[in-house]
Amino acid sequence: MDKLITLDRFILEQERLFPHATGTFTGLIQNIAFAAKVISREVNKAGLVDILGYTGYKNVQGEEVQKLDVFARNVLYNALCHTGQLCVIATEEDENIVPIPEEYPQGKYVALFDPLDGSSNIDVNVSIGTIFSIYRRISKAGPGTVEDCLQKGTEQVCAGYIIYGSSTMLVYTTGAGVHGFTLDPSIGEFVLSHENMKIPLRGKIYSANEGNYKYWKKGTRKYIDYLKSSDNHLKKPFTLRYIGSLVADFHRNLLKGGIFLYPEDTKDPKKPFGKLRLLYEANPLAFIIENAGGKASTGYERILDIKPEDIHQRVPLIIGSREDVELYEEFARENVEK
Ligand code: AHG
Ligand code: MN
Ligand code: MN
Repeated sequence: MDKLITLDRFILEQERLFPHATGTFTGLIQNIAFAAKVISREVNKAGLVDILGYTGYKNVQGEEVQKLDVFARNVLYNALCHTGQLCVIATEEDENIVPIPEEYPQGKYVALFDPLDGSSNIDVNVSIGTIFSIYRRISKAGPGTVEDCLQKGTEQVCAGYIIYGSSTMLVYTTGAGVHGFTLDPSIGEFVLSHENMKIPLRGKIYSANEGNYKYWKKGTRKYIDYLKSSDNHLKKPFTLRYIGSLVADFHRNLLKGGIFLYPEDTKDPKKPFGKLRLLYEANPLAFIIENAGGKASTGYERILDIKPEDIHQRVPLIIGSREDVELYEEFARENVEK
């Protein structure tokens, strides 16, 4: 059997590339991986325990909160709040930033989470995920601040996701390639299975909720019509694959090539920029896709260049194979023409 490289071994070997590394960051990734194992265990028996269904209340997004959303958020918090690695946490589920209790040391990193992505799929046994994004603090000392959480995506030191699917995988980048680890439940370890992942320059798959078609702007509709025609650059219609869990759609396109689109739409005047969150979904996945040779934009600007103004800010997300995203951007010009 060729050598088994666990996540722990891999990140320790990566740490040796940085002579000044103190091991704090290594510990942070290991703690996130531990939390992922706990969430994975619960996800994989969700049907057997009272972890399905709704909590009966809505989160700051105005969305019904699933029990597993809260469970995942609490597992991440409890795994990380006492470690001295973080000075502040922010999640899609928390209205405000989550301080590190004063009885614990205030660390040098900031962690942002979508604790459970694809909540609508929990009760129907379809793949779901957790997304994480790590920054260095910019505040000098003491408790972390909102400004620590509102840094541009280019400032990320690490981004990753866990997908709870047919297997549980953790995929992350620190800017030195994108690497995938598959959980081997028999030993309880994430094992390197996809080293240095690269997305094909262009694909044959598109992922979008076509139910929103009539709410899209003209250029967006024309792009989708182009993909579905036989005289596009493939000379045959693209394949539509849409799971409704961003992490699952993203992961498939990362492996096979293709484009995921959640454009702005006119469906809800309160959400003119679409549904996805800049801090917890767009930025981490944009950091990953760029390190895998792909591209992520709003259709008009690079996701990672956006200066966040609010911790729950939403953005249109067009992400995947570079040439596919660039072609969308050409069509999207018509959306903003006067
Ligand atoms: P979350 O469960 O964290 O709120 O994310 C759900 C998101 C994302 O996972 C997915 O791509 C999108 O919602 C699906 O939205 P629609 O159901 O509107 O297509
Ligand atoms: Mn999500
Ligand atoms: Mn979520």
